[in-house]
Amino acid sequence: MVSINKNISQLKVSATLQINEAVKKKRLNGEIVYHFGFGQSPFPIPKKIVKNLKKNADCNHYLPTAGLQELRIEIVKFLGEHQQINTIQENIFIGPGSKELLYQTILILEGTFLIPKGSWVSYLPQVKLIGKDYFIIETSFKNNYKLQAHALETYCKNHATQNNILILNTPNNPSGAVYRKEELEKLAIVCNKYDIIVLSDEIYSQICFNNSHAKSISNYYPEKTIVFGGLSKVFSAGGYRLGYMMLPEKLKELNSIYKTLFSETFSSVSAPIQYAAIEAYKYKKSIKKSVKASVKILEAIGDYVYQNLTQVGVRCTIPEGGFYILISFDDFKETLDEKQLTNSVDLANYLLEEYQVALLSGIDFYFAPDELIFRLAFVDFNGKKALQKYLKNDVPLNSKFIETYAPNIVNGIQKIIEFTNTLKA
Ligand SMILES: Cc1ncc(COP(=O)(O)O)c(C=O)c1O
Repeated sequence: MVSINKNISQLKVSATLQINEAVKKKRLNGEIVYHFGFGQSPFPIPKKIVKNLKKNADCNHYLPTAGLQELRIEIVKFLGEHQQINTIQENIFIGPGSKELLYQTILILEGTFLIPKGSWVSYLPQVKLIGKDYFIIETSFKNNYKLQAHALETYCKNHATQNNILILNTPNNPSGAVYRKEELEKLAIVCNKYDIIVLSDEIYSQICFNNSHAKSISNYYPEKTIVFGGLSKVFSAGGYRLGYMMLPEKLKELNSIYKTLFSETFSSVSAPIQYAAIEAYKYKKSIKKSVKASVKILEAIGDYVYQNLTQVGVRCTIPEGGFYILISFDDFKETLDEKQLTNSVDLANYLLEEYQVALLSGIDFYFAPDELIFRLAFVDFNGKKALQKYLKNDVPLNSKFIETYAPNIVNGIQKIIEFTNTLKA
């Protein structure tokens, strides 16, 4: 018998992975599946970035632990110009994806990690892996599942003596919500009052529908906000595995801790990838144009999903950024109870088997099993073709465009509508 670290062996396979596996199997068998479970950018990596990667393929040396200086400088400029965040190169750290940087941060910081209900699937497993304390803070549909300052205050008032670390994500995965300035200001007041460290996950920052970027809590609480970002979503380069982190000036005592930890774990991010990323963060006209166009397409598809589902009575969060929305069948609970579909895992399986629709159950996003809520990712379409068409002709992003370039979305939504209609008396 191999004895295994309990923090690791106790982790269960996530429902996300299970459904992705089930979808893969079905597709291999030639079955049609409308895959709303997958959370990856459908667009190609802007050509200039790929070109720079090829150009630097022969870079065989290790780079500095905190990252290539030239890249850190470009990220500083990018954050200043395109995210309204001011920082200096010494406070930027490059890692193999923002996920790893978050993990290392959770490892470093002592305290209780506060996770709003309706947050990204990996925060809690990371906290559990390291054996840290956590608390899930309640959120509600009426606020698009955004954390409210009074909910944070209530918790902190009762736990004022412990170190509290808040994980905040905007634009949000899974809800698609984007925090407004006033909401962040109110949260910042509470964070300041209780001396909370904030891990601000801004990986979708530029994928924001009503603004060029999502507002950052670091603008209102610069003292103790650590910002996370990367190539995966905005530049459609998840597989490149490059993320960054920005430490606030007030926490600069952590700089050497991070450098030591990086040097003893991943050493430094792949050199060619770092050189390629310089091109991304220079954010030249052609790259900016393709990012903006892909955001427009996502906005149109998000709106299509929202309009069509709300019309038949499915409760949805309002998509404001990223590529997800949460949809709820709680209003049909009675009928679903009769069908013995009483929890979101069973209902997700039912929808996959009976309607070929893959959704992710809310339990992975900290909802209770009997809350019939699901994450729907609207990226099951050929992003390359859609982007090419839109960039070439600047065609209207209407339902005809969506029917032509995102047929799986249209057909999958039809299936959900069909199912919803069976629940009506
Ligand atoms: C909210 C959120 N944070 C972080 C990540 C991780 O991104 P990266 O590819 O930079 O590790 C993801 C990826 O799915 C995400 O959705």
